[in-house]
Amino acid sequence: MKKPESSIADPALAELGRARIAWAQTQMPVLGSVRDRFVEQQPLAGIRIAACLHVTAETANLMITLAAGGAELSLAAANPFSTQDEVAAALVADHAICVRAVRGESPADRELNIDALVAANPQITLDDGADLLALMHAEGSADALLGATEETTTGLVRIRALEAAGGLRCPVIAVNEARTERAFNDRYGTGQSALDGILRATNILLAGQTVVVIGYGWAGKGVALRAAGAGATVIVCEVDPLRALEARMDGFEVLPSVEAAAKGDLFITVTGGVAALTAEHFEVMKSGAILANAGHFDVEIDLQELARVGGDPVEVKPLVSRYKVADRAIDLVAGGRVVNLAAAEGHPAAVMDMSFATQALAVAEIARAGSDAKPSVRAVASAIDDEVARLKLESMGVRIDVLTERQSAYLHSWHPSSDS
Ligand code: ADE
Repeated sequence: MKKPESSIADPALAELGRARIAWAQTQMPVLGSVRDRFVEQQPLAGIRIAACLHVTAETANLMITLAAGGAELSLAAANPFSTQDEVAAALVADHAICVRAVRGESPADRELNIDALVAANPQITLDDGADLLALMHAEGSADALLGATEETTTGLVRIRALEAAGGLRCPVIAVNEARTERAFNDRYGTGQSALDGILRATNILLAGQTVVVIGYGWAGKGVALRAAGAGATVIVCEVDPLRALEARMDGFEVLPSVEAAAKGDLFITVTGGVAALTAEHFEVMKSGAILANAGHFDVEIDLQELARVGGDPVEVKPLVSRYKVADRAIDLVAGGRVVNLAAAEGHPAAVMDMSFATQALAVAEIARAGSDAKPSVRAVASAIDDEVARLKLESMGVRIDVLTERQSAYLHSWHPSSDS
């Protein structure tokens, strides 16, 4: 079988991409120390890895780390609008990585690029949204996989559905659920970068606004926290009673979304689901309401319904489309696509440092286990979590206590009063 060739926007962008990758690297010391170890130990020698991830400077540093461990790599985009063309060019020029990704590529081209990942006959896949792993299962080529990793909540929902249907053919490590990932990537990464994308696109002042956050998982918590910190009044909408209670006790107003719809100035969907905002919401929103989606797929704001009630939009500035609903204006940011990547640069490198160090160690674990591991969705080993957190603290110059022998004995004893 002929090896697929790279397909990128412009090889001449490589110099710019190099600078961008180098900048991100300065923020990713944990991944850097994993890379040093990989150079020495070669845990991925000769292993073919295909990745369907956002093609960013942070992902480039992950790819370079895996290549340093001996892997043969191919990469395509998890989302056509997050690709940094200069980064793709640098990866091809400097690292012999097969990259097939062009910012803004059509759905048909993206499909071809993911097909090319499958054609590279991978032994391990990395996904952000499960598109590659789902395709390999649909085509019957997943049996050849030693394993896979999944970076995002939405992807894990799909993979668990596959597992529940009895169709999962390889072990999948749920990187998204690592302790070093969720609370950090989603809360601090999405929390900051979703607002970053909205501010870059609109330049609105958050102070004094009413921000409606729909979904109070880790990412929703982060968005609510950062919006409140910027001086906004935050309303949270939830379907899960525990999360709703948590939002209330965190100090936010909690309302059904249709009631919040009449009050909000800015709406941010972070549900991981579908149709969180639809016609019944658009019809009661204030004029000037702004809508943005921070979830993985562009299905959380019902775009068909928005077009039905609001007609053809007018672009009022780059990345902001205005719909007219009756006599009111409703502005949609980045076409409802994941706003932190479509209108900004995604999670900051300093937080991707942890998730991609975890990814790299999880991939090495899959390679180490070989074909013995059973097909199932499994957690990241707690030793990996601990190590990544310890290295991150070290890189930040933060020191912590260790349990004394007496404290440790107390915590490991079942006796009611073993502290004598
Ligand atoms: N997912 C969210 N932010 C990202 C980034 N900066 N790079 C890669 N994947 C991401």
